[in-house]
Amino acid sequence: MVFQEDKSTLPSVNLASLEMLNLITSYRVTQTIHVAAKLGIADLLKNAAKSSQELANETATNASALYRILRALASIGIFQEVEHDLFELTPLGQSLRSDVPGSMRAWAMMVGGEHHWQPWGELLHSVQTGKPAFDHVFGMGPFEYYNQKPEAGQTFQLALSGLTQIVNSQIVTNYDFSSIRKIVDIGGGQGSLLSGILETNPGIQGVLFDQPSVIEKATPLFKNKTVYKRCELVAGDFFDSVPTGGDAYILKHIIHDWDDEGSVKILRNCHKAMSEDGKLLVVEMVIPDGNTPFYGKFLDIEMLVGYSGKERTANEYQKLFAKAGFQLTHIFRTEALVSVIEGVRV
Ligand SMILES: C[S@@+](CC[C@H](N)C(=O)[O-])C[C@H]1O[C@@H](n2cnc3c(N)ncnc32)[C@H](O)[C@@H]1O
Repeated sequence: MVFQEDKSTLPSVNLASLEMLNLITSYRVTQTIHVAAKLGIADLLKNAAKSSQELANETATNASALYRILRALASIGIFQEVEHDLFELTPLGQSLRSDVPGSMRAWAMMVGGEHHWQPWGELLHSVQTGKPAFDHVFGMGPFEYYNQKPEAGQTFQLALSGLTQIVNSQIVTNYDFSSIRKIVDIGGGQGSLLSGILETNPGIQGVLFDQPSVIEKATPLFKNKTVYKRCELVAGDFFDSVPTGGDAYILKHIIHDWDDEGSVKILRNCHKAMSEDGKLLVVEMVIPDGNTPFYGKFLDIEMLVGYSGKERTANEYQKLFAKAGFQLTHIFRTEALVSVIEGVRV
């Protein structure tokens, strides 16, 4: 039976309120994507469309509840219901597969998981005190937490590697690395950025520097890479010292984790370690002035909740560089949200 809906009797709606309702309830989207990512639904749909029952059998979940997850995600373009209860991946949904370059699966798993979700529930604490809600909830900072919970630490590193794979090509095409002899990647994680730079610049030697627990996991991954012969992996604490002798020190998403005092300490250690003509390359999202919509403005809230850090404006980077003995020489913008902020020793 086909129903006729009489639209003339509908009351006029307050569009601003409806838009606000959508914004207020966007947590539902985050958590629904998180569950689909955790269950690996995109991987299971890689080769063929499937029904909720088939997917429920493969993921040990309840078919009718899973159907509702799939239908909701189809309504925002992640899956498509090609016929009743038969779902396939859309181009957007492909990015949730684990095996694609720039995979967002680990990101979705991390953002909806306990170590992210709970501190975000305490955002007000951060706003009232100016201190990270993460420490308030877990009694320690995120890097200590990741050391104690290796599974969460591994998801964090995978999430960042996925993101780096997206921005790598932008960084290597927007910044000319060709005159550099030895580049040190400070807090380089699993080395996605460093591998990308070495692959496109065959004359460069590289050093990957990170905490011992991260370097331990990165080593077997690096051994399989063609650039391994030109790369050294070094474990340490960037607040103590960083490897010496590089003529470029790159720090991607490091400085935004720390307040000015901590950031200056890290940058001064780079200053001490680099050659006279050395370059400092900070890769971050530079906050634009005014009301411009920009992903980095909410990443900044992430820094408020999780870390003592923040996203900064070009002016703030200039001042921070000066405090650590660098002159900011150029900001190379890319189309992938991040910029390469270049500095030289003064
Ligand atoms: C936000 S992640 C960025 C990782 C990588 N640069 C990227 O963009 O994908 C911060 C990195 O800093 C490392 N880190 C945190 N504290 C450190 C310390 N005290 N010494 C050395 N590395 C540290 C973490 O292990 C992590 O890999």
